[in-house]
Amino acid sequence: MNNMDLPLWRQRLKASQSKEGKLASNRWIQIANVSKNNQPRVRTVVFRGWLDNTTMLIYTDKRSEKYTDLESNKNIEVLWLFFKTKSQYRFKGKVSELEDNDKYWDNLFDKSKDQWYWPSPGQKIDLENSISSRNNTLSKPNNFSVLKIKIDEVDLLKLEQPFHKRYVWKKIDNWKCIEVNP
Ligand SMILES: Cc1cc2nc3c(=O)[nH]c(=O)nc-3n(C[C@H](O)[C@H](O)[C@H](O)COP(=O)(O)O)c2cc1C
Repeated sequence: MNNMDLPLWRQRLKASQSKEGKLASNRWIQIANVSKNNQPRVRTVVFRGWLDNTTMLIYTDKRSEKYTDLESNKNIEVLWLFFKTKSQYRFKGKVSELEDNDKYWDNLFDKSKDQWYWPSPGQKIDLENSISSRNNTLSKPNNFSVLKIKIDEVDLLKLEQPFHKRYVWKKIDNWKCIEVNP
């Protein structure tokens, strides 16, 4: 994809990512949402790439709390912190299911596929009967889910000397970059 087609915030993000290097932890992001009981929830997930210029992908288990919470309230905030550039990106968006997810399953390593065959996340563990329902073919289980996060707003804070910098982009403003007080 041509860099010039990307919104400016995507170009900034790309620069932060390449400075950070290739560690697996550089793809760990935090997602925040509101539970069915109106409580705040936050957890780490792996960033799985872009569906298009402004839509992130994550994988999860349909049996998890986040999945059912996000079904009832699709609002999400993603936090992505880059240590080397002291940059904090906050993405506001809406979540929906990517229906045609076969290719994402097929591209996973077998070791990663295993986790979707374990008993439901969050249930009390039963060590005697806690066996994986893994089959030999590792065919895609029904609980595998790819979620799309369609981003509407980006807030970047960069800790710099002598002044910190903060920028906001909104889809509704055609991704115009606004510099704001940090
Ligand atoms: C480094 C790291 C990466 C994780 N990646 C994912 C992920 O990609 N998808 C996911 O559903 N959970 C991931 N988790 C687990 C979630 O943070 C969470 O604990 C789990 O999904 C249970 O969430 P629940 O509260 O929705 O049941 C990851 C946890 C860690 C520590």
